[in-house]
Amino acid sequence: MTGAKNSVLKLLAATLLAPGRHTLTAVPDIVDVEIMGELLRGLGATLQHDATAGTVTVDVPEEIGHIADYELVRRIRGSFVVLGPLLARCGQARVGLPGGDAIGSRKIDLHIAGLERLGAGVRIEHGDVLAEAAGLKGTSLWLDIPSVGATENLMLAAVLADGTTVIDNAAREPEIVDLAAMLSAMGAQIDGAGTSTVTVTGVDRLRPSAHATVPDRIVAGTLAVAAVMTQGDVTVRGGRADHLEIPLGKLVDAGAQVDLLVDGFRVRMNDRARAVDISTLPYPGFPTDLQPLFVALLSVASGTAIVTENMFDARFSFVDELARLGAEVRTDGHHVVVRGRPQLSSAPVRASDIRAGAGLVVAGLVADGVTEVYDAHHVDRGYAGFPEQLCALGADVRRA
Ligand code: EPU
Repeated sequence: MTGAKNSVLKLLAATLLAPGRHTLTAVPDIVDVEIMGELLRGLGATLQHDATAGTVTVDVPEEIGHIADYELVRRIRGSFVVLGPLLARCGQARVGLPGGDAIGSRKIDLHIAGLERLGAGVRIEHGDVLAEAAGLKGTSLWLDIPSVGATENLMLAAVLADGTTVIDNAAREPEIVDLAAMLSAMGAQIDGAGTSTVTVTGVDRLRPSAHATVPDRIVAGTLAVAAVMTQGDVTVRGGRADHLEIPLGKLVDAGAQVDLLVDGFRVRMNDRARAVDISTLPYPGFPTDLQPLFVALLSVASGTAIVTENMFDARFSFVDELARLGAEVRTDGHHVVVRGRPQLSSAPVRASDIRAGAGLVVAGLVADGVTEVYDAHHVDRGYAGFPEQLCALGADVRRA
């Protein structure tokens, strides 16, 4: 199992906090890592990526730049978390405002309100977020929503602040725990990562570290769904079933057999899946990033399911593409009703984002005939060698 995209981007941002040579391992060979690398280079860092070994070394100079270009931030929203480290290291930061996204509005108000509470002056000018602080001061913060990115940006700013910061209603995702583990190895003082209250006591200086990225739970979940849809048998080595309790539980409800192994888990299915309802929520709830995969699965399940998307307001836009494959899907606000059919029928379809693209590829596995997924470059942003991985499991997927 490769390391998690949604962790490694933040780990790369964390390197900016300490001059010296950092080593990250279990780095996935995906486009977003390349873009984030470009962004770090623009700030003065030197990177070496050994894609075969999955290792990235980052040399961070004593003096770093404080301007993160809109062109790069726009391409990967996860890069917005450089704001916290730049502010902490340079006392100022200029980071492109990420703007809209295919899955819906991606606000940053909680990031900004938190940094203001830490003593920063923040304004938006000509499409950039400009932040300044003579010195950040630890304080009590709370988030209206347990935002993953805001929790990370605030942790990354607070580690070098003067005094203690308490973040209430923090996100609890495994990627937050991973970031806290790396920051702790760098000398930061962080308690409570993985719970709703994260406490950060600022230190004067951090040091570089060597850190292995947490396995990607969304890639692992994607392979599990593919196994169930195709009535197959897949072992996900290194997959963390403990990070996927609700999705794997749903697959069991759908009729699959899931076995926990010492190093991963195995998913087996020998029948058509039964319909199960799902509702996305912050971790440990059902992950929004697996919603398109489950909608694809439910489109060939027996029975009718209701899927509720609570995290992003446009994450159902891909269901119209799924309908082109013959799926019976009807959206109503943040719900979609999926009436399972025995079989889908191949068609050309278009990927609008990473997970929608993966959902369409997996749907193509059970569609009658050859399904062509256009704009498949979206999938490469989050899945390393997805076609090759599926082929190794017996599927017939080719990159055109
Ligand atoms: N939100 C606000 N204000 C903010 C921040 C967030 O209202 O200041 C709202 C968002 O609009 C959204 C909700 O809070 O409705 C959750 O957003 P969150 O900040 O938690 O998400 P994120 O950090 O922008 C990360 C992942 C997403 C994943 C979400 C939720 C990265 C790079 N991205 O986004 O991953 O869906 O958490 O788990 O870590 C993907 O990989 O395909 C992907 C979209």
